[in-house]
Amino acid sequence: MKVLILGATGFIGFPAAEAFVRAGHIVYGTTRSARSAEQKLSPKEIIPVVADPSSEEGMAEWGKIAARCDIVVDALSANGAKTAIDTFHNYLQYVNRPKGSPKPTYIYTSGLWINSRGYGGLDKWTDERQPTSTYNEGVQWRPLIEIPVLESEKVHGIVIRGAVVYGREGSAVATSIFDRALEASKTEKKIFETVYQNESRVASIHTDDMADLYVRVAERGPLLRGQVFMASNQATERLTDVLDAVVRVSGCNGYKAKTPRSAYEEAWASTTLIKPSLGDALTGWKPKKMSLVDGMDIYWSSYLANKNLNE
Ligand SMILES: NC(=O)c1ccc[n+]([C@@H]2O[C@H](COP(=O)([O-])OP(=O)(O)OC[C@H]3O[C@@H](n4cnc5c(N)ncnc54)[C@H](OP(=O)(O)O)[C@@H]3O)[C@@H](O)[C@H]2O)c1
Repeated sequence: MKVLILGATGFIGFPAAEAFVRAGHIVYGTTRSARSAEQKLSPKEIIPVVADPSSEEGMAEWGKIAARCDIVVDALSANGAKTAIDTFHNYLQYVNRPKGSPKPTYIYTSGLWINSRGYGGLDKWTDERQPTSTYNEGVQWRPLIEIPVLESEKVHGIVIRGAVVYGREGSAVATSIFDRALEASKTEKKIFETVYQNESRVASIHTDDMADLYVRVAERGPLLRGQVFMASNQATERLTDVLDAVVRVSGCNGYKAKTPRSAYEEAWASTTLIKPSLGDALTGWKPKKMSLVDGMDIYWSSYLANKNLNE
């Protein structure tokens, strides 16, 4: 297959692009940076498309390549519904396959906070068969792009909703927890502030396991159109267990709760009770990595190493 990853240098997009390469596909990837094209994408056999994906010229450039691809993955950083909708519409404008040809597949990367129902019992539990929720205000824009993708007649539209993604540079785990712990570890008190509630439970997934789900779903695109997959481990972890593990590996003495100051921070402390099963049922997908808490020594070391490399 020919695959185009929009946002191929990203925390999710890069491992996904590498996984498609390893699976034997021809992989194109966008980046706005010529340096990233040369140093990050080309060495990994990802064919760089140097363009700003949301500029007029950039849209024309990647649009022409997308038109020749069988799979397009939107793994661009989240910037609200408009950018994602414009990206999808640009793609639809360029896809013009003759009648009777196989339809290409479009995968939109979403987040599973749109399913969160908060802490509780089975009434709060969710999975791929459950409807979205209005619990997290900050992600209520997601259906505005998910629905047109899932209902598309022109392409096989699929959504992958990521849990909190961990590993490597750490992404939101780094900005919300690791960066704060690292900073605090250099102070006298060694106490970091972070947003959490005592009962918060986190659904999470390693970026390599999520990458494996993209490949499995993309290869079965024609069978899976209109489906939503949750990229999450089978069990959630208590956020304070994650924080206790960070205290252990960072040399900090502890942490204290910071009041959420944005809809994003409210969502970060929210609970999503989930045990996904559609990825396994339809593609045989099973996450293999250690959980965030159990593998914390590895994930903290990798975060530090990536931080040093990028400085
Ligand atoms: N990270 C998580 O834990 C997580 C969890 C659930 C869902 N998600 C969702 O997954 C999607 C991808 O997330 P991510 O964390 O992988 O994203 P990311 O690493 O922040 O960004 C992906 C890529 O987007 C490009 N980009 C960034 N800002 C841009 C801009 N202003 N204009 C055009 N391109 C830009 C960058 O490529 P260049 O700089 O090379 O151009 C970047 O490498 C988002 O929708 C996010 O909400 C993420």
